[in-house]
Amino acid sequence: MPKVTDILATMDYGPSPEANGEVVKWLKARGAFGHYINGTFTEPAKTFDVKNPATGELLTKVAQGSAADVGAAVKAARAALPGWSRLAGHERAKWLYALARTVQKRERFLAVLETMDNGKPIRETRDIDVPLVARHFYHHAGWAEMLDDEFPGMGPVGVCGQIIPWNFPLLMLAWKIAPALAAGNTVVLKPAEYTPLTAIAFVEICAEIGLPKGVVNIVNGDGETGAALVAADVDKIAFTGSTEVGRQIRKVTAGSGKKLTLELGGKSPFIVFADADIDGAVEGVVDAIWFNQGQVCCAGSRILVQESIETVFTDRLKARLAKLRVGDPLDKSTDMGAVVDPVQLSRIRELVAKGEAEGAVLHQSACEMPSRGNFFAPGFFTNVAPANIVSEVEIFGPVATLTSFRTPDEAVELANNTRYGLAASVWTENINLALDIASQIKAGVVWVNATNIFDAAAGFGGYRESGFGREGGREGMLSYLAEAPMKAKAEATPIAPDTAPTPGAPASASAIDRTAKLYIGGAQKRPDSGYSYAVGHKGRTLGLAALGSRKDIRNAVEAAHAAKGWGKATGHNRAQILYYLAENLAQRSREFTERLKAGGVAKAEDEVEASLRRAFYYAAQADKFDGAVHSTKSAHVTLAMPEPFGVMGITCPTDAPLLGFLSLVLPAIAMGNRVVAVPSQNMPLAATDLYQVLETSDVPSGVVNIVTGARDELAKTLAGHDDVAAVWYCGSADGARMIEAESAGNLKVTWTLANRDWHGAQGQGRDFLNRATQVKNIWVPYGE
Ligand code: NAI
Repeated sequence: MPKVTDILATMDYGPSPEANGEVVKWLKARGAFGHYINGTFTEPAKTFDVKNPATGELLTKVAQGSAADVGAAVKAARAALPGWSRLAGHERAKWLYALARTVQKRERFLAVLETMDNGKPIRETRDIDVPLVARHFYHHAGWAEMLDDEFPGMGPVGVCGQIIPWNFPLLMLAWKIAPALAAGNTVVLKPAEYTPLTAIAFVEICAEIGLPKGVVNIVNGDGETGAALVAADVDKIAFTGSTEVGRQIRKVTAGSGKKLTLELGGKSPFIVFADADIDGAVEGVVDAIWFNQGQVCCAGSRILVQESIETVFTDRLKARLAKLRVGDPLDKSTDMGAVVDPVQLSRIRELVAKGEAEGAVLHQSACEMPSRGNFFAPGFFTNVAPANIVSEVEIFGPVATLTSFRTPDEAVELANNTRYGLAASVWTENINLALDIASQIKAGVVWVNATNIFDAAAGFGGYRESGFGREGGREGMLSYLAEAPMKAKAEATPIAPDTAPTPGAPASASAIDRTAKLYIGGAQKRPDSGYSYAVGHKGRTLGLAALGSRKDIRNAVEAAHAAKGWGKATGHNRAQILYYLAENLAQRSREFTERLKAGGVAKAEDEVEASLRRAFYYAAQADKFDGAVHSTKSAHVTLAMPEPFGVMGITCPTDAPLLGFLSLVLPAIAMGNRVVAVPSQNMPLAATDLYQVLETSDVPSGVVNIVTGARDELAKTLAGHDDVAAVWYCGSADGARMIEAESAGNLKVTWTLANRDWHGAQGQGRDFLNRATQVKNIWVPYGE
């Protein structure tokens, strides 16, 4: 035992372990764990080992779930659904409050258990994870209470399958279960195989408070169990984990009608400008990448430092690195604990070795490492070429890359040079610069002079290949709610055989000259194929439409990309243009009505009239559908900004050729997107006639591009195109399946919608605007 005088001389930390007696006793008393299905623990049959990552010691054994176990859990959730969803919101709120309160009472137990299971320091589980878990249940109790007022006409999605990773086991559970229950859904959750224990402790709380049976079910197991849950009879899958598995899930759920949200990986930039508070930013790196072993999907793992402070920043980072304390995660003065599993540890080692082999220089802490357990000394890379594996791939370990930039533009370019888009941190004392950069970064979350802060009231989720859908706050609630069931309207048979596209022989030159051409980049274009097809009604040919090809789609996407300015125009600018469009359409309404009548469209006058109204509605919304300011952590506000996707592909319904087209294209452009639209295959002329209206209304070139032709073929090219960020498809069930599967490539957001009564309330509304935007949550310092 050192004397006080010795300690004063060295100023070293003494050991300060958190007691774990209660957890050890609990594990011993319970023995092995089964699944939690319909309010009861099953007898464990086949099991897997759960080990303490910091010691390698066996903690317990947990049942490996089979497809039959998953089936039983889904059946229990389905049986519980009617009772749970019919409860008044206030009743469900009371259950959520009870969960929040009980989690709070068990905070210490849960924090210790999480640390023993996951390896992260007790300071993190105690001060961040578990308090946030309680916060989520409190917050969502509130949503349950206010459901009818806040989300009129909406109801639960049904039975939700939820699959979570190992980096925030209990917090991810809360993040997923709290909104699901608040909205009236029932759930089957599969925890990660490395970290199943806090989920088990949580369902013991559910049992203890008497939550109705079957509302929450837990099936443990690995990826196979997860895959069985994805395939099961569930109405929604909510997944958090690797981009690879997320992509697989997108493919296998294609066409199933299951609602899907994906929260995937990231390679988030951490940008430090010359005028930043350097010490604050260095501490930010500790929080972003070291404190949590780098096992955070939104970890700021790419440090970008302005050239003029590169040396001083790097020196201070090295000095801080030398002082990090790595070791027993249960010790209250440990900064960095253990990596979750030997498999993950070898993955980190392998990636780091490859990075070094490819020329990057590793600066690693020389701290004393524990003699057992899965530990990896924290560090960072310099001299990292952009093509180095560690620049591109998520390491998911305590090693960041550090590169420099000269100008703010270069910082943005580097920051966005990734296929991911989960989060970003911006460090500068200049508010103009901070907010300008925040606006340009393509990520779902941006922290200004902060990093890795979360709150139940703020949405969280990614852009691009970091997934889609949001968790937390109002946005998160929307992903657990469905619109009241809609009467799908039977689709008109796509194009009669005698007018089918005829790719065989090129139309004669004179026919092409009379053909309604493609409209790309503000100009009429002949189709690349040189082919056209006849469109008509009752055997009478009304005209020829260009038969667009993949190349035409690619050209149209390029033209749409070039029209970048549209996304930056103010809502008022866009509104004015849409009003003007309505006015010009009104002037030519007789012509449009005649065209529709000739094409056999019933209620042609009504369709033109409704189209005008639609233009007015979205003009009105252009400067009114906006974001929110969330009240989250103290000294912060969180701005929830709905942003356009950029380039969207839109495939329009076969019938209602004018109204269907405008009902989809107008909300998209009202929010600042540029579109490549495939109009009704049967009656594309109603849309191609619009080009004059678009031009006279000052819609900038490239904002609306029209490619006529074979619907599903063109839609497939749009869905597979890496520069298209979102696709809406109104067509057949087979087409919808194809679109969802094709979109897995760059994980674009898709909306496959059934044909509907476009004249009625289902033809317009805020849902269209929600779907035309993705929310960026920007955390800004505010107040004390
Ligand atoms: P993973 O994506 O394989 O596992 C996440 C969850 O999905 C686990 O519950 C797992 O059992 C389940 N799962 C695995 N395969 C499945 C399938 N085919 N169908 C349904 N569910 C399935 O991630 P893993 O292997 O644990 O980690 C690998 C890498 O993924 C990490 O190194 C990291 O880069 C990334 N990752 C990202 C996370 C995030 O928060 N975005 C979290 C965990 C990992």
